[in-house]
Amino acid sequence: MVSRLLTNIGELLTNDPTLGDETKVGRLRDAALVIEEGRVAWVGAQRDAPDADERVDARGGAVIPGFVDSHTHLLFAGDRVEEFEARMAGIPYDGGGIMTTVGATRAASDEQLREQSARRLAALRAGGVTTVEVKSGYALTLEGEARLVGLASEITDETTFLGAHVVPSEYATRRDDYVSLVAGAMLERCAAARWVDVFCDRGAFDLDEARVVLASAAARGHGLRMHANQLSDVGAIALAREFDCASVDHCTHLSDADVAALSGSSTVATLLPGADFSTRSPYPSARRLLDAGVTVALATDCNPGTSYVTSMSFVIALAVRDMAMSVDEALWAATRGGALALRRDDVGRLAVGARADLVVLAAPRVAHLAYRPGSHLVREVWCGDDD
Ligand code: NIG
Ligand code: FE
Repeated sequence: MVSRLLTNIGELLTNDPTLGDETKVGRLRDAALVIEEGRVAWVGAQRDAPDADERVDARGGAVIPGFVDSHTHLLFAGDRVEEFEARMAGIPYDGGGIMTTVGATRAASDEQLREQSARRLAALRAGGVTTVEVKSGYALTLEGEARLVGLASEITDETTFLGAHVVPSEYATRRDDYVSLVAGAMLERCAAARWVDVFCDRGAFDLDEARVVLASAAARGHGLRMHANQLSDVGAIALAREFDCASVDHCTHLSDADVAALSGSSTVATLLPGADFSTRSPYPSARRLLDAGVTVALATDCNPGTSYVTSMSFVIALAVRDMAMSVDEALWAATRGGALALRRDDVGRLAVGARADLVVLAAPRVAHLAYRPGSHLVREVWCGDDD
């Protein structure tokens, strides 16, 4: 058993409020950290650091928990750059382009999907992501969705079945049949998925349809999450609370009752500013959520339609600059918030016993992530699993 001591850390964010400055991010200055068997074995002041078999010098860089990207659609083929250009020229997003990606993804081989998603995963990882959730949702056929869930499970344990992304065009006149297929045979074939997600919004699935899918998924023991209120307030938040969804994602349109329902609850509001940025939509009101005591996460939503984003640093910069989150709030949301959105306690924090998933920055303070947007400030990414 080899122990490794990381020394000379300029600023360490542990997300353990019992450590350091006892804020939510548990900040320590001049800190050190010991790792054994892929787990954090000791955290504290540099001067108190115990001996270890190996020493690694962080050279005064800040160290943070690895990012937990709790919302991605990594498995897709093709791109939608023309749709983006048209949007920038004034055509609003309505979810209609999803079928373009469905066509390209259905036509792609397993090898092509593996190769393309591996490149996106490598970009996420190089930017500090150590836990990633991956959704299906660009096949929308029985065998196609099962194939995507299978490919997702090659990438991560946090796999999500999103057969309820949109109603595919071949079912346009028989929506109910598609909802029954998703909630029945398709879910059965995708039983390996840890999570089930439903896009409940204008142009996607209405409340009654979403309820059918969620009820079936809950009965089969899946964890639940929702794309909720991205384009309009269709009442998705109350439904998510009814089913104790782990996360409601987007939350661009929220009523006061929605915010109250999420406050202090076990449902995390996952904000995806990359999507609002790339669709030139209003940002969700992070302050309103945070001030009401809602748990907030940040994720990339990496997908070809609304957020072809593979950088959590960029997401943090948007959250700080455009959503009035403090750097500490954004950092926490991109790490611990993401972990809670996946109902994980072993990641998103650097306390004794947690997974040794961490990022060493080429900057002395985490605030540089928002202060120097577009700069590559991730110097090293360690994943407990690699040990
Ligand atoms: O999270 N809103 C639905 N799903 C994706 C977009 C999918 C697409 O446009 O391809 C999202 O934004
Ligand atoms: Fe999404």
